[in-house]
Amino acid sequence: MSKTSIFAENSEDLKVEDFKSKELEENTIDNGTVTWKTPSNIALVKYWGKRDPQLPENPSISFTLNNCHTITTLAFEKKENNSKEFSFEVIFEGRKKEAFKPKIQKFFERIQEYVPFVNLYHFTITSENSFPHSSGIASSASGMSALSMCLMSIEKQLNPNISEEYFYQKASFLARLGSGSACRSVKGELVVWGEHDEINGSSDLYGVPFSSEVAAIFKNYQDTILLVDKGEKQVSSTVGHNLMFNHPYAQNRFLQAKENISKIKTFLKEGAISEFIALVESEALTLHAMMMTSNPYFILMKPKTLEIINKIWEYRVSNGSNVCFTLDAGANVHLLYPENEKEAIRKFITEELAMFCQNGHYIHDEVGDGAKKI
Ligand code: DP6
Repeated sequence: MSKTSIFAENSEDLKVEDFKSKELEENTIDNGTVTWKTPSNIALVKYWGKRDPQLPENPSISFTLNNCHTITTLAFEKKENNSKEFSFEVIFEGRKKEAFKPKIQKFFERIQEYVPFVNLYHFTITSENSFPHSSGIASSASGMSALSMCLMSIEKQLNPNISEEYFYQKASFLARLGSGSACRSVKGELVVWGEHDEINGSSDLYGVPFSSEVAAIFKNYQDTILLVDKGEKQVSSTVGHNLMFNHPYAQNRFLQAKENISKIKTFLKEGAISEFIALVESEALTLHAMMMTSNPYFILMKPKTLEIINKIWEYRVSNGSNVCFTLDAGANVHLLYPENEKEAIRKFITEELAMFCQNGHYIHDEVGDGAKKI
C-alpha cells in the first residue's frame, strides 16, 4: 500500500512501517515555530513492565487530565552544516536546562527513522509546566507528548496530506518512544494503550481513545493530587519497569492487568462504581506491591501516604462516599471522585487531608480531552 493511500484511508491498526515518513526529499521549509499544550494522565490500570522498543508488557487505561499540563514551543531552523548530530537546546521555565538533554537526545535517536527531518533542523525547545517543578508529579507524560505534537505539526507542514487520525496516532506513537505513558496524553478522556481483544483498534504502538460506552457517573471525573512528597523520585520509572524482568510475579501481574481491562470496561459501561473503586485501588496497591517484591526492593509510599489512604477508607464508610485513591510510582496520592461529590470531598480535603501534604499543597484536576494547539 502506498503512503498516500494510508493517509487517505481509515488508519486503524497501523504497523511500525506505516509511521516511517519520506518527506525529507520534499522538504522545503526553512524555519518555523509550533506550540502545543498537552496534559498529564492518571492510569487506572497500570503500565508496569516493558520490552524494547518501549512496548508495554500489559495494556493500561488512563484518565487524561486537564489542569496539569505542559506547554511546549518548538522553534526550528535549517542547520547550517550537514552534520549527523542532533542540534537542539532546551529552555525549561525560562532557563537553559542541560539536565533534560540526554533524555531528548535518546528520544531523537529513537524517532529519527520516523521523522527524518529531526536531523535537518536546529531546534529550540521551550517548555513550561502548569504544576510546580518539584511537586513529585511526573512530567514525562505531558512533556514528551507536547514535544511529539510539535514534531507532528512540522511533519504536517512538510506533508499536508496526512489525515487527522494519522496525525494523532503518529503523535502518540512518537510520544510512546519518549515515555510510555506519554502516548496516553494525546487524546481524552479515557485512553487505552496496549493490545487487548476487547478494545477496538488497541495497539502496543500507540494509545487509542476508549470508545465504548461510559456511564454518566464517570464523566467529568475529579482528581485531586495530594502532594505528600515533592522530592525527586526514589526510583525512576525506567528503572522500575526493568525490575519486572525476572520478577517472580511478573507473568501473573501482566495477566491480571489484562483481565482488569476487561472488567473496568464493564464497570465503566454499567456505572458500577463500587467495583470500579475496588479495581482502581487494587491496581495502585499491586503496582507498589510489585516494587516491594522486586530485587532490589523499594517502598515508595511514605507514612503520610498510608495515613491518607486510611482516612479515605474511613470517610468512604462513614459518609457512603464514592471517593477512592490511586498512586503513581511515588508517594503522592490521587484522590478520584465523581463530580457530584465535588463540594463534600473538597471540604474533606481541606479539613482532613491537607495536613498530610507537604506544605499543605494539593492540586485540583479533572478529566480533560487531550492535546491542544496554541
Ligand atoms: C506507574 O511512562 O513514566 O505511572 O516508559 O519508562 O517513560 P517510561 O515509563 P513511564 O511509566 C509510568 C508508570 C506508571 C503507570 C502508568 O502510568 O501506567
